[in-house]
Amino acid sequence: MKKIAILASGGGSNAESILKHFSLNKTISVSMVISNKKNAGVFDRAEKYNVPCLWLNDDALKKKILSNYLFKVKPDLIVLAGFLLKISSELIREFPRKIINIHPSLLPSYGGKGMFGDNVHKIVKKNGETQTGITIHYVNEEYDKGEIIFQKKVNISKNDSVNDISKKVQALEHLYYSRIIEKLLSIEKG
Ligand code: GRF
Repeated sequence: MKKIAILASGGGSNAESILKHFSLNKTISVSMVISNKKNAGVFDRAEKYNVPCLWLNDDALKKKILSNYLFKVKPDLIVLAGFLLKISSELIREFPRKIINIHPSLLPSYGGKGMFGDNVHKIVKKNGETQTGITIHYVNEEYDKGEIIFQKKVNISKNDSVNDISKKVQALEHLYYSRIIEKLLSIEKG
């Protein structure tokens, strides 16, 4: 069985769509959900699917408990789904091409530190973009700069509110993230 570890800091709608997608899969499973926020909505979602959860406070993160834990569990893929902390260099070295993230814009546009959630959609709207979308990419040591695995565009109009843009982007995220995860794990040897 291939193991996925989901790392999320927030509400976890992407995490839930992944949990749902793999809930009946016989070869791939979500084996843990990890968050740095004690009351993250993602924990309630994970419970519904009986997936073990781990909360790491700042102290635990500083003491490298996250990396030690992942070194021990050895997930086949570490999936960031709205995880707002930077991934340490040692984790990146230990899991080459095994840590992926989803970003709510067409990278390299609108990426980097502080570019998450509605911050992205607000600037996309302000700049009068006619298209936005999602990017799924490997994680490297710079925010949103890792190799791009997949992108999908969506048209937006000047009448779309930030909330409308967010909904369009979220619909793409929920449709494609699990599919790409499944594809990555299926082509991987072993
Ligand atoms: C998503 O928009 C994703 O692109 C970004 O963080 C957000 C997480 O949303 N990385 P949710 O917690 O999955 O609802």
